[in-house]
Amino acid sequence: MTVLTRAIAFFLLTVTAGVAAHGRPGRPGPRPGGPPPESWCSPARRSQRKPWQTLTDPQRDDYIRASLCLAEMPARHGIEGAKTLWDELHYAHIAQSAFIHFVGGFLPWHRYFLVAHETLLRGDCGYQGPMPYWDQTNDVSNLRGAAVFDPISGFGGDGVGPDLCIGDGPFVNLTLRFNEDLAFDEPYCLVRNMSECLFQGAAPSFVNDCLGAETYVDAWACLEKSPHISGHWGVGGTMSNTLLSPGDPIFFLHHGWLDRLWWEWQSKDLATRLTEVDGPNIIPTNATGPPPGQRRRRGMDWLRRRGGPPDDSTCPGTPLGGGPGAGLAHGGGTKNKAITDYFNDGGGILTTLNHTLWSAGIIPNATIAEVMDLHGPLVCADYV
Ligand SMILES: *[C@@H]1O[C@H](CO)[C@@H](O)[C@H](O)[C@H]1NC(C)=O
Ligand SMILES: *[C@@H]1O[C@H](CO)[C@@H](O)[C@H](O)[C@H]1NC(C)=O
Ligand SMILES: *[C@@H]1O[C@H](CO)[C@@H](O)[C@H](O)[C@H]1NC(C)=O
Ligand SMILES: *[C@@H]1O[C@H](CO)[C@@H](O)[C@H](O)[C@H]1NC(C)=O
Ligand SMILES: *[C@@H]1O[C@H](CO)[C@@H](O)[C@H](O)[C@H]1NC(C)=O
Repeated sequence: MTVLTRAIAFFLLTVTAGVAAHGRPGRPGPRPGGPPPESWCSPARRSQRKPWQTLTDPQRDDYIRASLCLAEMPARHGIEGAKTLWDELHYAHIAQSAFIHFVGGFLPWHRYFLVAHETLLRGDCGYQGPMPYWDQTNDVSNLRGAAVFDPISGFGGDGVGPDLCIGDGPFVNLTLRFNEDLAFDEPYCLVRNMSECLFQGAAPSFVNDCLGAETYVDAWACLEKSPHISGHWGVGGTMSNTLLSPGDPIFFLHHGWLDRLWWEWQSKDLATRLTEVDGPNIIPTNATGPPPGQRRRRGMDWLRRRGGPPDDSTCPGTPLGGGPGAGLAHGGGTKNKAITDYFNDGGGILTTLNHTLWSAGIIPNATIAEVMDLHGPLVCADYV
């Protein structure tokens, strides 16, 4: 699809977006009066999630069209400094980075965030196709050649020039606004700095190691390291920044893959794993010790011990954004004190099913319990 036809399609869909209301068939939107019963999510209602590689050209074009639409569509969730819906998604992640990474709620929160993104993509930008994810298995030895980075049918490629702003593809002009401290006075470009070396954690051996984990804490910690961090650092730039990474549209495809792996792990023993969650609910204050009182299940320790690469000591250079947890000292990365007591974990330091998930108002708050089942009414999706 040319830029012109994209622009026309965008215009038409902008005009008709009001008709494409929330709660369209196949998509559970916000529902006044509480969630529908579990049985609501029949197979026919499930949103299909597919590898990007298997989408048809028109589906890819439409997904990119809808993603560009999010970056044009005016903000409407009352977030100070946000101009577009893309900014609002960005904010929702940055504002609570210290509470959604290296904690037990990491996988559930990101599953919930995928729903927030999908809700906007479908409800505001008229996307009706399958939700794509980036199956990285076949791209391990050819990162730059991956279909997702195609300049025509994909998300464009590596950064270029001294600033490493991306040099091609539909998102070359994407403007990001929020900085790590939620300041929004200096818009910036989408940056990438690919490293095949740092990407090696996506290799099947590491993925299989995670899928073989016996407990939630093991599976979470393993997945969060490799393939999660390896995907972020392999793409580099914006993606390698723990706070700012959702500024890159590839973030949602990367996390789609990660979520698929968590679901695959859950599916090996649904009787147990539909309710199994654990781990600290606050990031350890530093990489060497757990928060006070936290004597078991140290998130950071697990991340260090389990999984393979990435490890900046085995790959040349240090990616932008530093190591895991950079800028994420306890309470860092947020100005919003409202979220420091939102966990609803009964005052405990361990993550429970009651833990609140928040998206800065993009979709209603939920609990971890509500996202555990991919076939529950909140997520209602299938990896196919
Ligand atoms: C980016 O902006 C430049 C300058 O306005 C324009 O020529 C180009 O077509 C734009 N590219 C895309 C993909 O929107
Ligand atoms: C890190 O945390 C541990 C345990 O809480 C503490 O003993 C240590 O002093 C901390 N180190 C730094 C550099 O803050
Ligand atoms: C880009 O990545 C390379 C290798 O991974 C690294 O040496 C370099 O410092 C990075 N550039 C920036 C600006 O971070
Ligand atoms: C949702 O969670 C946020 C963050 O804790 C909280 O400030 C807000 O009051 C909650 N909203 C509702 C409707 O409960
Ligand atoms: C969740 O909260 C309910 C009531 O608020 C309580 O009965 C239940 O024990 C809590 N569950 C967990 C896992 O903390």
